[in-house]
Amino acid sequence: MSRGAAGTSACATALIALSIMAAGCSRLDMQDQPKYRPQRPSEFFADGRSERQPVEGTVAYGPTEDDTAFYEGKDASGKDIEEFPLVVDKTLILRGQNRYDIYCSPCHGRIGNGLGMIVRRGFKQPPSYHIDRLRQAPVGHLYDVISNGYGAMLNYAAQVEPRDRWAIVAYIRALQYSQNANVNDLPAEARNRVPAIGQAPIPAQANEPLVPSDPDFEDFPGKPATPSGVPGAHGPGAVHGTGPGSQPER
Ligand code: HEC
Repeated sequence: MSRGAAGTSACATALIALSIMAAGCSRLDMQDQPKYRPQRPSEFFADGRSERQPVEGTVAYGPTEDDTAFYEGKDASGKDIEEFPLVVDKTLILRGQNRYDIYCSPCHGRIGNGLGMIVRRGFKQPPSYHIDRLRQAPVGHLYDVISNGYGAMLNYAAQVEPRDRWAIVAYIRALQYSQNANVNDLPAEARNRVPAIGQAPIPAQANEPLVPSDPDFEDFPGKPATPSGVPGAHGPGAVHGTGPGSQPER
């Protein structure tokens, strides 16, 4: 047993000595690798190139980076685009709502009136999204503000990837519409339930969506009087006005 161990270690010593001698003769390290640099010729491949071509018919996965409409919100002449460069559907708008509530509502408020919590605590107040200039602003401008910032507002390029920026822009359009809709845009059965000016709010219906619980309000002075699970703004328990106990708008 002990003889075997001694034999092994003698062998190892010889190997180490050999490799040190070999290293002394030829130096092969990372600065001298057997590799091709980009665009260098090769004798190995029949076509003389070191790089292989993509298989015929290969298509890019997702938009390509030279798609300036999608990545920059600009057309070929550098003008803000007026139309969305992707399909806008309910999934995209809901994604936009989710991203907007996280990244934008702290300043712009949940409905985009520019009265978010950070603003209430002293940050510069942004314009409301419900002014004519921003209602008419091309979608490319809104995308550009997220990508590059605007005045006192920093950009959100690192936090919000291009597709999500478009989702947010789609949601801003939905917010703008929500504050500027005509009662005639509503389906007939919903139209009947809009109270006339001066008329009391119409009670919620059994199948109306519930107000989601909002833990943010827990420590806010004048907690909302509408606990989670109680029908929303028009329902019993909803508070209107600005007295104690009313729910602050964000
Ligand atoms: C830290 C606060 C803050 C956050 C968060 C914020 N903004 Fe702003 N935003 C501002 C301020 C302040 C302005 C006004 C800047 C100025 O005029 O100097 C502004 C302006 C804007 C404008 C109007 C540009 C114009 O043409 O007048 C848009 C659109 C906008 N923001 C979109 C967004 C979106 C979308 C997000 C979320 C991705 C976002 N903002 C997040 C503070 C913020």
